Amino acid sequence: MKRVLSGIRATGRLHLGNYLGAVKGMLELQDPPAGGQEYETFYMVADVHTITTPYNIEELRKNRREVIIDYLAAGLDPKKSIIFQQSEVPEHLELAFYFSSVITIARMQHLPTFKEKVTQHPDNATMALLNYPVLMASDILIYKAGLVPVGIDQEPHLEVARVIANNMNSKFGTDFPEPIRFATKGEYVPSLTGEGKMSKTVEGSYINLTDDLETIKSKVAKLPTDSGKGVMPEGKPERGSAIGTVLSFVELFLGKSKAEQYKKMYTGEGIRYGDLKQELSNSIYEELKPLQEKRKELENNPEYVDKVIKEGAEKARMAAQETLKEVREKMGLS
Ligand code: ADP
Ligand code: TRP
Repeated sequence: MKRVLSGIRATGRLHLGNYLGAVKGMLELQDPPAGGQEYETFYMVADVHTITTPYNIEELRKNRREVIIDYLAAGLDPKKSIIFQQSEVPEHLELAFYFSSVITIARMQHLPTFKEKVTQHPDNATMALLNYPVLMASDILIYKAGLVPVGIDQEPHLEVARVIANNMNSKFGTDFPEPIRFATKGEYVPSLTGEGKMSKTVEGSYINLTDDLETIKSKVAKLPTDSGKGVMPEGKPERGSAIGTVLSFVELFLGKSKAEQYKKMYTGEGIRYGDLKQELSNSIYEELKPLQEKRKELENNPEYVDKVIKEGAEKARMAAQETLKEVREKMGLS
């Protein structure tokens, strides 16, 4: 059966960007429509990736579990998917080291994600950070996963995984697939500030999956607006313009036809942003309410969460060890 792998770093609680860009894709592949292609799905929290930038130890300890709870609350199901913590499968780290022998330093240094992080943390341009995409390639390829549900920002990392798969196959005769991204319609959720993407590490940019209606309303209220009337900007209006950002949220939560309606109003009689924001906040909350209810149940059942984590690691390790054995043999290490 075709395999899927995805992961999210343990840097904080999940937000709408993570949910729409990654988790929704994970759910779609976990629960294919009747008669559709079925997949074996591996979903992890990338806790080892979290140490590639400065972090707080206690927060990591907490978040590596919270992300699993968010996954379960969102509908990832241990009966259908293997749900685990990356660090519990140390095989990923071993394979990553082998992979680092088939990719150059120059290639890693030129990645936009590496450059961005070095700008953010100039005193922490570590080997771990440089190796970030190599470990990610290992996460995916150790399960020979061909499909990876992640947001559009992860595309450069997937390209590295493809290069590594190719190089491994031609040098050592392995049979790694070239993984491709599985895109959702929320592959790029803009920041609430109107600049760049929604991100855990940018204060004021996100709505958490656990936010209540009042919090959502006050965050949505801060979305930048304009006069409510004018010409639609050209190109990718969701990246930068006030109306573009607002409309992309409308499309994601109220649907395409609502977005069209508002677009017409914008170029016609004008939009009343107050009403729009009210409608938008309510519909975001409606989408999140069932997740929040499920989360409460999970918080009251820590034994269940422990069991999911333990069993997930056991299953993932079995699959990972198979690949590792084969790679060691092919590389002359056994
Ligand atoms: P963050 O940038 O908030 O720290 P991560 O880098 O941990 O988020 O991303 C986890 C997953 O969520 C990745 O698959 C990423 O592509 C996706 N993702 C993050 N932010 C967004 C966004 N604004 N829109 C769509 N997908 C996103
Ligand atoms: N780099 C991803 C992010 O920032 C997290 C991640 C680590 C990942 N390993 C992965 C995503 C493997 C998909 C597959 O969100």
